[in-house]
Amino acid sequence: MDILEDEHLEMAASQPLTAHPIDMSNFSHLFSPLQVGELHLAHRVVLAPLTRLRSTQPGDVPNALNATYYGQRASRGGLLISEATQISLQGKGYPAAPGIHSPEQVEGWKLVTQAVHEKKAYIFLQLWHVGRISHSSLHPDEGLPVSASAIAPANGQLAFTADFKHAPFETPRALGIEELPGIVADYRRAAENAKAAGFDGVEIHGANGYLLDQFLEDKTNHRTDIYGSSIENRARLLLEVVDATIEVWGKGRVGVRLSPYGTFSDMGDSNPVELFNYVLEQLSQRGVAYAHLVEPRVGSAGNGDPIDDSRPRTSHIFRNAFDGVLISAGGYTADTAEETIADGYADTIAFGRLFIANPDLSERFRINAELNTPDRSTFYGGTDKGYIDYPSLVEVQS
Ligand code: FNR
Repeated sequence: MDILEDEHLEMAASQPLTAHPIDMSNFSHLFSPLQVGELHLAHRVVLAPLTRLRSTQPGDVPNALNATYYGQRASRGGLLISEATQISLQGKGYPAAPGIHSPEQVEGWKLVTQAVHEKKAYIFLQLWHVGRISHSSLHPDEGLPVSASAIAPANGQLAFTADFKHAPFETPRALGIEELPGIVADYRRAAENAKAAGFDGVEIHGANGYLLDQFLEDKTNHRTDIYGSSIENRARLLLEVVDATIEVWGKGRVGVRLSPYGTFSDMGDSNPVELFNYVLEQLSQRGVAYAHLVEPRVGSAGNGDPIDDSRPRTSHIFRNAFDGVLISAGGYTADTAEETIADGYADTIAFGRLFIANPDLSERFRINAELNTPDRSTFYGGTDKGYIDYPSLVEVQS
């Protein structure tokens, strides 16, 4: 940890905690209702966005298998956030990741939203442009991946190719300033398509080193135009996307995911506190439904198992910067989720890997039941194995 991070932690520690003696056997905070924008949640166990690479090929079209998966994870009054979904072919970075830019994809997503709504749950679509975390084999007509600046990730991570193999990252092409209105227009069209597909809202993926994060953070943004250099300039593209999606959906149905201090995909910023305080203040002013922070303590943004508790706690550092519902994600158990909400550091918690393995996660938490263990080997790609075959409690007991 460097001195800068130490200072931020000290700052966080000096902020007052709400005194809440809690009974760990009773998750009363996790199971209390919450208003999130225009949604009335019955509980606070949110499905985190999880890429599973199982859309129908060609065309990146969601299908009946995907609908079964989401339907299994839906519970009355719960909120699901979809896997990251590309807004354009250029925004695709992984084989078989779904899109929301073609009529077939809109029809495919309708199966998913119907399955979720049948269970009386809500689902937001996570809107995604991967930027440099891509490979030209995934979009041969689009050429090289694009980014804020022509800088390739350098931390040894590999790109996924169209045939599910790995390859070194190509150096991306820096987007010209004249291309950026087109990117915003792609987000707007994707937001409109999400509406046509029956979603309840959209989450803008500004986290984990993808395009909008590549513009935000100064390790990847070396631009000298009005989209680079100052914090206001680096946040411009994200905020233009937020404004465009609010125009489509209204502020109460737009959320934004961010990952301050995240290092996945070779990310970093020289002053995360100032940068993300500014972004969160701007989001507060816009009154978005929620801000969603990924804790950097999870290895590789969830792709690694270890939890590093020496990393900064972003829900602590940034809680006061955002004047609205805060979702926190990353390495939570029911106990730590309950404690975090009780202490006022977040309003609700998103669970990733535990939800992969436990379709009825909220029910298991509620009655303190044993949990299934996630199988990492089936996270990405494949069919129903490790996707829709984790047993629910009802199945275990029958
Ligand atoms: C992820 N994560 C992720 N994040 C995101 O914003 N969009 C995505 O599509 C994905 N995809 C994804 C796939 C898989 C298989 C994993 C494990 C993770 C990150 C995820 O939402 C979450 O932040 C992390 O998994 C940490 O939370 P847990 O798993 O510790 O509860």
